[in-house]
Amino acid sequence: AQRLLALVPMGVPRALTKTTCFRGYTLPQGTEVFPLLGSVLHDPEVFKQPEEFNPDRFLDADGRFQNPTSLFPPGKRVCLGEGLARAELFLLLTAILQAFSLESPCPPGALSLQPAVSGLFNIPPAFQLQVRPR
Ligand code: HEM
Repeated sequence: AQRLLALVPMGVPRALTKTTCFRGYTLPQGTEVFPLLGSVLHDPEVFKQPEEFNPDRFLDADGRFQNPTSLFPPGKRVCLGEGLARAELFLLLTAILQAFSLESPCPPGALSLQPAVSGLFNIPPAFQLQVRPR
């Protein structure tokens, strides 16, 4: 869901620490650049059929989770909150799924996977969820 939505599609602005040649263009030191993380998250060379919601793509042949580095790009400016974010997502989702079953009142295929608003942030459309105690 995080990959498909690409919450902050333009990424975080950065500035070049040295003059850099990129795809034939010379970008002087100090130039502000936007890494366009959304283009990586929807790149068919990185993710097959990128517009499909397919969590299986993150599992290996034995059903084990393969860590997609593109969600949290590595490097010197790595997300400082990655450990906290991963722990929070795991604890919150497992607590909900252990206590409740979640269903959509309409066929899941009928839900739009396109953001309702797209700009600096991609905002998903509102949708209804049925939450039943297990
Ligand atoms: C699912 C949740 C999150 C995602 C997907 C995420 C993703 C990212 C991404 C893509 C970057 C930019 C990395 C780069 O430019 O190379 C970033 C940077 C950052 N994130 Fe997160 N993040 C999440 C949660 C958090 C949380 C919970 C915190 C703090 C408690 C946090 C703190 C930061 C900070 C401080 C930076 C800037 C690091 C720097 O520029 O040195 N993030 N994050």
